[in-house]
Amino acid sequence: MPYRVTLIPGDGIGPEITEQTLRVLDATGVRFDWDPQPAGMAGVDRAGDPLPESTLASIRERRVALKGPLTTPVGGGYRSVNVALRKEFELFANVRPSCTILPGRYDGIDIVLVRENIEGLYSGVEHFTKVGDDPRGVAVSQAIVTRYGCERVIRYAFEYALRQQRRKVTIVHKANILKMVSGLFLEVGQKIAAEYEGKIESNDLIVDNCAMQLVLKPEQFDVIVTTNLFGDILSDEIAGLVGGLGLAPGGNIGATASIFEAVHGSAPDIAGEGIANPTAQILAAAMMLDHLGETAAGARVRDAVVKTIRDDKVRTRDLGGSAGTREFGDAVAARLA
Ligand code: NAI
Ligand code: MG
Repeated sequence: MPYRVTLIPGDGIGPEITEQTLRVLDATGVRFDWDPQPAGMAGVDRAGDPLPESTLASIRERRVALKGPLTTPVGGGYRSVNVALRKEFELFANVRPSCTILPGRYDGIDIVLVRENIEGLYSGVEHFTKVGDDPRGVAVSQAIVTRYGCERVIRYAFEYALRQQRRKVTIVHKANILKMVSGLFLEVGQKIAAEYEGKIESNDLIVDNCAMQLVLKPEQFDVIVTTNLFGDILSDEIAGLVGGLGLAPGGNIGATASIFEAVHGSAPDIAGEGIANPTAQILAAAMMLDHLGETAAGARVRDAVVKTIRDDKVRTRDLGGSAGTREFGDAVAARLA
């Protein structure tokens, strides 16, 4: 039976990198029954909505989606598609693996960051308070953290570590200052860490120290689990350590569905030129294969990508090469065939 997956090609470079990703998936021999659906600007153009109901219905039914980057329409009162998807499908864990592909300033990095994806300072509970005649004299944002939300994402990180035969989980927080919102995350983390003692090593680090340690000694890290804002920032820092956004995939793991995508956006500055790096989207597809239980195919895709870049020296411009999007897809598919 082919896997029934929703396909959102997306905007800008989305369709170009998606085309190459589908060719690579095809070369694995794993069969898919795709349901192509619009979102972002493509959704606005085709259905007058950046997140059409038909797209939601498809994900609801199929429970797995491969998504390209979406251009967020500016103005017009459009809601953020990514926030709407996270809420709709309770995409509570954002899993972002980063691995050294090209040896450079940093070698031997192999870090998976698990970011809490719904709560914290991104809960959207904000207001201004008037001071004198300044209506925006004070701004207040509430970080909302629940014991349930902490448990769910931290347990996911430990289970992920076990499943992927990882050695260690680092809990990242700021409990020394944010005694409640970050203190609760650390408290729950330490309780769960104790349950996994003997199976998975663990430690905790304060976020500012973690940011510095990542630059000084990144090889000490394995799996990191942290709250929404810290995860947003640290995952980009880690992507930078291994060569930038063109290489960074992500999986949004949810209670009712999971959505796999590149971390980068629609790159309007290079859209339509055939020069975008499809690596992040191809690696996101490899994460999707793992999620579907096709772990051997996932490993083969990752191996083919690494060897294409490292050994065959087929590299797109963002990596200092001259290969086009299609040429790179050809090379990865050839490695798999
Ligand atoms: P961006 O990630 O699209 O581009 C930043 C820079 O990186 C650009 O110079 C771009 O050319 C380059 N770049 C990105 N991906 C690349 C790739 N695969 N190969 C080669 N170069 C690549 O970020 P930007 O410009 O801030 O956002 C553009 C649009 O994308 C906005 O509308 C934004 O809202 C949206 N966006 C969507 C995301 C999603 O749907 N997951 C995530 C981030 C941004
Ligand atoms: Mg971010």
